[in-house]
Amino acid sequence: MKIYFASGNEHKREEMARIFPDYEIRIPKDEGIAFDPEETENTFFGNALIKAESLWKIVRAPVLADDSGICVDALGGAPGVTSARFGSENGQILDSPGRNALLIAKMAGIPDRKCRFVCNMVLFLGPDRFWSVQETLEGELVTEGRGEGGFGYDPLVYLGEYGKTVAELSPKEKDLLSHRGKAGRKISALLSLFPPE
Ligand code: IMP
Repeated sequence: MKIYFASGNEHKREEMARIFPDYEIRIPKDEGIAFDPEETENTFFGNALIKAESLWKIVRAPVLADDSGICVDALGGAPGVTSARFGSENGQILDSPGRNALLIAKMAGIPDRKCRFVCNMVLFLGPDRFWSVQETLEGELVTEGRGEGGFGYDPLVYLGEYGKTVAELSPKEKDLLSHRGKAGRKISALLSLFPPE
């Protein structure tokens, strides 16, 4: 069965395809839909809802959306909902390695390294019907990135219990532990218990 995923991020799509093995994950690009809604809310939930509703208005079928990011305690929860555009606020455009370097630089000399990935996932069935799950993956910020797997901030987040950064996990291990894996499996369980009519 096919389900829409309101994202242009191929890394997220790959993870969603693994987390929802019973579904064919279709993103707007697959359907020739130009999709880049403005994320104007200051919560993961608010922005996930914006993405989900925007795509639902076009496809009029169940839509999954994910808003996610990294929250660093010593930075008061930043970059948080602005993780995808961290450091790009003052006109400069940073790519993912640039954002990672900036985060490491901002955290230089700060002993409290606690951080977490957060994912809010919405299944949008209609303007008055949607489900949302928010999940986390707790870790510590490294002083130098490590690992080639995953995407985004994965090389920066160290999982003490496993002795690896998220980028050093296999895709299967990441899915098992990650904010997106945990949220996705809960939505997936709800979908099997309550198939949308
Ligand atoms: P958005 O949800 O598309 O607004 O952007 C989320 C941003 O947070 C991504 O561009 C990544 O930089 C970061 N992010 C979200 N999930 C992950 C993850 O699983 N690993 C690493 N970075 C992530």
